[in-house]
Amino acid sequence: MTSRLNDERFELARGAARQAGALLRGKLGTHIGVRSKDVRSNLVTEADTQSEALIRSLIARRFPDDVVLGEETGTSGRDATHRWIVDPLDGTTNYAHGYRCFSVSIAIESDGEVQSGVVYDPMADEEYIALRGGGARCNGTELHVSDQDDLCDALLATGFPAHRVDDPIGNLKAFADFMNAAQALRRDGSAALDLCYVAAGRFDGFWEPSLHAWDIAAGALIVTEAGGKTSDYGGGPARLDAGEIVASNGKIHDAMLAVLKGDR
Ligand code: IPD
Ligand code: CA
Ligand code: CA
Repeated sequence: MTSRLNDERFELARGAARQAGALLRGKLGTHIGVRSKDVRSNLVTEADTQSEALIRSLIARRFPDDVVLGEETGTSGRDATHRWIVDPLDGTTNYAHGYRCFSVSIAIESDGEVQSGVVYDPMADEEYIALRGGGARCNGTELHVSDQDDLCDALLATGFPAHRVDDPIGNLKAFADFMNAAQALRRDGSAALDLCYVAAGRFDGFWEPSLHAWDIAAGALIVTEAGGKTSDYGGGPARLDAGEIVASNGKIHDAMLAVLKGDR
């Protein structure tokens, strides 16, 4: 891929995230056809599907052969050299309740590695972006993780999967353990934004089980490009298909892994 086409894809992703974000902002609080997917707590709205359709149409107009993986309509395209990984609305439960914490997340993978990503928060009008090897920015300002090196003084975030029926205990044991080990915890409801907040130094760390590639593909790159660290619960590479992720400023990473292992 030439770097010109790389740049074009990235700029297209940024524009698409902004347009989709404007759509979400405009429909917030209107009739959005909330319904459950497979289990009652796993929601989808017309805004999710319209946002994904918009993003897909913008990609298809310029890069019709690229593979697109979107949460609401699965995989399309025939040339997997480039894969767009799209969460058209991260934070659907918040959105359905008018809780103003949600985002649009788009990552672009080339030859199996995420090269760039954008997460757009339409209510705060904050655009988080990262290019592999090129750093991370929010609205033009460079992002840097925090320098907190003591888990006891750390503000952490997490989330709980909608499919709790499969695993009723789920994340609660880790939640209780971190309640004791850290300064405070937050559960805000948009994993993509949680990761961007780690990149911005607002959260010192984040962990969550049972996530999907579209929740984390862009945010994980934004964290590492802001100087942070990502891994699976065992400290191995954070793979998009692993489900679980730990993201931190790097300094408290081992302490977080120890808590998840049950050692602290
Ligand atoms: C959800 C959000 C939430 C996380 C859930 C995800 P969705 O994504 O990222 O923070 O806790 O596990 O499913 O369904 O709103 O796109
Ligand atoms: Ca999501
Ligand atoms: Ca979603």
